Amino acid sequence: MKEQIRLDKYLAKMSVGSRSQVKQMIRKGQVCINGEIVKKAEQKVVIGRDVVSVDQKEISFVPYEYYMMYKPAGVVCATQDTKDKTVLDLIQDTKNKDLFPAGRLDKDTEGLLLLTNDGQLAHQLLSPKKHVDKTYYAKIQGKVTQEDINIFANGMDIGEKKKTLPAKLEILSSDAVSEIMITIQEGKFHQIKRMFEVVNKKVLYLKRMRFGPLVLDKSLKPGQYRNLTKAEIQMLKGDNDE
Ligand code: URA
Repeated sequence: MKEQIRLDKYLAKMSVGSRSQVKQMIRKGQVCINGEIVKKAEQKVVIGRDVVSVDQKEISFVPYEYYMMYKPAGVVCATQDTKDKTVLDLIQDTKNKDLFPAGRLDKDTEGLLLLTNDGQLAHQLLSPKKHVDKTYYAKIQGKVTQEDINIFANGMDIGEKKKTLPAKLEILSSDAVSEIMITIQEGKFHQIKRMFEVVNKKVLYLKRMRFGPLVLDKSLKPGQYRNLTKAEIQMLKGDNDE
């Protein structure tokens, strides 16, 4: 059976207005289902079959949204914050009001961030059991060495109950400031910064390039975002089936 939803709920979920505002629109005769004015807020809409419009403008039903953002430095990964700008402050024109960042990047970290309201998918991607790869580019103060590669690969004590899972460290250049790529499978607080502290080095710059099968879109500039493609959503879901 096709999913059904109350008309007022449908409109409020699609951010046409608050529940009381959309009820008023319905009462005033501004809302049609399949071209017929409907004046009952409790009227059921059959998702995927019925066409809903407000003042002749069709309101399609999009229950889940998925965005790839190039998170800039200086904004926090939260839904709201009393002090700082959040990643959600950068997003406009969403259909749903319940978006959240799937995972956290530090305030000074840049790069690929997934924003969605699909709690089930986010849970799958963030579950420590799933070991979803996250790849970062970083600038490190100090010479990164083969010895560091071995230490990272063996897992390290960063003050948590367990050692970190093996991390893949790749040296792009090694000098007073080194450039590296690192892939980790966890998302502990300040994880990469803490891992480098263990080898007495400091992360100067950190940017996430990949999150599971997603690759940061080169055409995005810091602060910009785009919808995930159907193929990307499929990959995210497919890769994480139990
Ligand atoms: N590791 C960190 O230290 N910070 C991040 O933002 C992500 C991974």
